[in-house]
Amino acid sequence: MTPHIEAKKGDISKIVIMPGDPKRAELIANNYLDDYRIVSEVRGMKTYTGNYKGKSITVMPSGMGCPSMGIYSYELFKFYEVEKIIKVGTCGAYIDNFNMGDLLLVDKSFSESTYALVQDNISINLVNASSNLNNIIKSTAKELGQSIFNGVIHCSDVFYEEDSNYKTKLYEEYGCVACEMESFALLHNAKKFGKEATEVLTVTDNLVTGKRLSSDDRQNRVGDMIVLALESAVRL
Ligand code: HPA
Repeated sequence: MTPHIEAKKGDISKIVIMPGDPKRAELIANNYLDDYRIVSEVRGMKTYTGNYKGKSITVMPSGMGCPSMGIYSYELFKFYEVEKIIKVGTCGAYIDNFNMGDLLLVDKSFSESTYALVQDNISINLVNASSNLNNIIKSTAKELGQSIFNGVIHCSDVFYEEDSNYKTKLYEEYGCVACEMESFALLHNAKKFGKEATEVLTVTDNLVTGKRLSSDDRQNRVGDMIVLALESAVRL
């Protein structure tokens, strides 16, 4: 047990799929996992371990932002011997090249966060996703007939980013094509512990043009993303 996870060691699989939202974790378990059980529910963050096509998988919510993702990914990698984490989530685009609902695979995460500095005295603002996981996800997407973009994500500490010049600057200087809020802590912890992590995202809104995905389309596209993450996990 850790301060934030009450599962026994063997109760968590080597592969963890992490949505941000606890409700989405429940939905993934209900709709896709066979024989699942709840292995932890500290702070209501219900964590499910079950089988997808015969492969043991844990689904755990990360919560929002690097502090929350940082805690859970640290404890999973360090105390539960988790090897691979695939985060699934949504992102807001910084450029107009995306259609709403497009899937984006994270190559690198850029962040202004002090997460790596405070935890490990490492002063960086870019961290890579696992190229092994990314290659498997790309080939799985091809097999499933899904198209997926890849690129640099801005891992922001701010949801209500009101300065549009700043988004343009991040695109021009670092190639950030969209933003979310958890990747930097996840990818940094994976690197620290010699593990593998990445993120698959659904583009749900455009922060420059104000376009948004309708709620029906959101359900469908998020469903495609979840299937891609689970099918990739089976191939690991
Ligand atoms: N900001 C951060 N994360 C997000 C957003 C956003 O606008 N949209 C979806 N995830």
